[in-house]
Amino acid sequence: MQIYIDGTYYERDQAKISVFDHGLLYGDGVFEGIRVYDGCVFRLPRHIERLYESAKAIALEIPIPQDQMIDVVVDTVRRNARPSVYIRLIVTRGVGDLGLDPANCKRASIICIADDLKVYPEDYYRKGIKVVTASTRQIGGAVFDARIKSLNYLKNVLAKIEARRAGTLEAVMLNDQGFVAECTADNIFIARRGTLLTPPLWDGALDGITRDGILEIAGRIGIPAREERLTRFDLFNADECFLTGTGAELIPVVDVDDRRIGNGTPGEMSLRILEAFRKLITEDGVHVSF
Ligand SMILES: Cc1ncc(COP(=O)(O)O)c(C=O)c1O
Repeated sequence: MQIYIDGTYYERDQAKISVFDHGLLYGDGVFEGIRVYDGCVFRLPRHIERLYESAKAIALEIPIPQDQMIDVVVDTVRRNARPSVYIRLIVTRGVGDLGLDPANCKRASIICIADDLKVYPEDYYRKGIKVVTASTRQIGGAVFDARIKSLNYLKNVLAKIEARRAGTLEAVMLNDQGFVAECTADNIFIARRGTLLTPPLWDGALDGITRDGILEIAGRIGIPAREERLTRFDLFNADECFLTGTGAELIPVVDVDDRRIGNGTPGEMSLRILEAFRKLITEDGVHVSF
């Protein structure tokens, strides 16, 4: 494995950063999770744009322009010579001292890792999964804008522990006001009376690239879709429910907190959208030649 750190490639056991990096000390940095399907880096320009938007929001200056960052990702994929991988692209505030002030960090660090993705078994897509609501809350947009994909994922980690304890893969996170925000690493959708609904970003949902793709597909195949505030009541009484994310793609949910969703099997609308999404993944991106 060849890991990129600030212009140099390292073997896995040599890829190291300073203990004074503010990414480590304070979670001060931003990241992207990107999927490569058969040499196609899915929606790479949008991932890079989102990375720079997150960085701008936390006043973090990335030392290279966006087109060079695209080259970093493409080059990392090529060097690792595997057509289907998961990319973790990280920009930390860089090396400073133990003080909080980022003014002591002279240059941001860029890290790019290409690794195997632990995909969910196909059975989960055919049968759907169960989820629980976590007691750990997500932060709403009034406190911290959920569009910032920062290195601080502690709330999500705590909610993931709750999911694991409950024997489920994912947990629904509510915001401080009790509205549905998202899951630990996925956005959430429901279908109700033929319309797709997903929480607004302001309620604490990441501006997911898969979420975006699903909204576009819905528009294309004639399914009405919009953002709407949701409560647990809406989840329990949905006709269909699914999660979306780079790792999960679109995974149907058939049970929320022991309430059966719809008839307890993946909904027809969910499966139609998943099929359309899977057609998109090897087309809509930057193609890497090996
Ligand atoms: C908290 C959170 N929500 C939603 C998502 C899904 O976003 P995307 O579709 O861009 O992967 C992620 C993915 O990393 C995430 O970390």
